[in-house]
This record gives sequence, C-alpha cells and structure tokens, in this order.
Amino acid sequence: MTLTRQPENARTRNKATGAAPIRVAADAAGEVPERWRKEVACILITDKEIAIRVAEMSRQIERDFTGRELVVVSLLTGTVMFLADLIRNLSLPLRLDFMGVSSYGAGTESGELVFTKELRISVRGRDVLLVDDILDTGRTMSRVLAKLKALKPRRIRTCVLLNKAARRAEPVEADYVGFDIPDFFVVGYGLDFAERYRNLPFVGVLHPQVYAQGKKKKVEF
Ligand code: IMP
Ligand code: MG
Repeated sequence: MTLTRQPENARTRNKATGAAPIRVAADAAGEVPERWRKEVACILITDKEIAIRVAEMSRQIERDFTGRELVVVSLLTGTVMFLADLIRNLSLPLRLDFMGVSSYGAGTESGELVFTKELRISVRGRDVLLVDDILDTGRTMSRVLAKLKALKPRRIRTCVLLNKAARRAEPVEADYVGFDIPDFFVVGYGLDFAERYRNLPFVGVLHPQVYAQGKKKKVEF
C-alpha cells in the first residue's frame, strides 16, 4: 500500500480550533527519505508544515493567556518534540510539569490507563495548559482532565498536535488543535509505535507489515 498526502485547503480549516485538515489518498508515491522507506509508507505532515502550524498555535495561546502565568502540563512521552517547539515560541511566564500516562500494550489499540508520573507543581488557582500529542478515543484526555479538575485550577485549556475525530469514544475536544487527521495510526515527531519512531522529524504512516510484526511482538530492524 502506498499513501500520499493531498495539499491543505485553507478554506476547510476547523472554525473552532483553526486546525489544518490533512487527508490522504491511496495509491501514489510519497517523498519519504531513503533511510525510512522500508518502514514508512507515507509522510502525512512534513516538518515544515508542523513548524508553521505549531508557531501559529503558540501565537493563539499567547493571545488567550496574555497577562497570566501558565502552568503547562505535558503528558509523557509523545509530547516531547511538540512541547519543545510550542513553548519556545511562547513569550509568556510559564512553569512546566509532566504527567506520565501509559496505556499498556505494544499494539495500536489503547489499553488500560496507568499513571506513571504525578505532578510536582501545584495547579491550584492557576491557569493550566494541558498538552498531549494526539486526541484519539479521548480516554486519556478525559481521565487526565478529571484528575486535574480535582486539583482546582483557575482554568484548564487543552492543546493537542493531532486530532483523530473519527475515533472518539469520550465526549472531549481540545481547545487548540494542530491538525485534524484521518483514522490512521501515525508515528513520528514524538509519536511512537511500540516505543519506536519518536525521532522522525515528520508525522508519517508505517507500512502495514510493520504494525503486523509489532502486534506479534517480533519487531526487528
Ligand atoms: P486516547 O486515549 O485513545 O485518546 O489516546 C491517546 C494516546 O494514545 C495518545 O496520547 C497517544 O499516546 C496514543 N495514540 C493514539 N493514537 C495514536 C497514533 O496514531 N499514533 C501513536 N500514538 C497514538
Ligand atoms: Mg501519549
């Protein structure tokens, strides 16, 4: 299977979040770097597109939080690259903390949620920006939001790089969304498959045989 991206149509941006739509059409060649061609079927979002959109998101957040001091709460581990790029563009006073949430299993389906790291900074009475890599079924986001709300922050806004609306199982949406993407399991720019591919500078889709191997827990490269 080969996939390719279709160019963004600015007119179809999400009105509420400003998210750029990403669509893929089957059956055309991608521009995947030679090094990754055996594993990556196509690039869904290039590093340049990510950089432009993340800078836009930072400006949007900056406007909404002018005059406030933020506590950025970022979920480990998939947010690493997104978070670094997002906050370096934020000219606001902020403090940064991490929460560890893990859904066990090496596959592409999320399993049971386990908190692996708790907050160290108090968010009571604070403005909180919750950052995650991708909003998929929404289970992670709703669990984390419930936990944060119990800590009585002044307000919470949510920010994700990617949104897969088609997969939603919980009634939760993000306030800031980088890209609305179709129902593909994606990797790169922090996102993993079985803890791999976080270092890709783009967001891409793996060849189906890679996922199939991962499920059988026989990933060897
Ligand atoms: P949710 O709880 O189903 O919304 O899933 C959220 C978490 O699942 C994200 O924080 C990711 O860690 C992971 N996840 C969901 N979809 C993908 C994907 O396409 N690629 C990589 N990780 C994903
Ligand atoms: Mg995650």
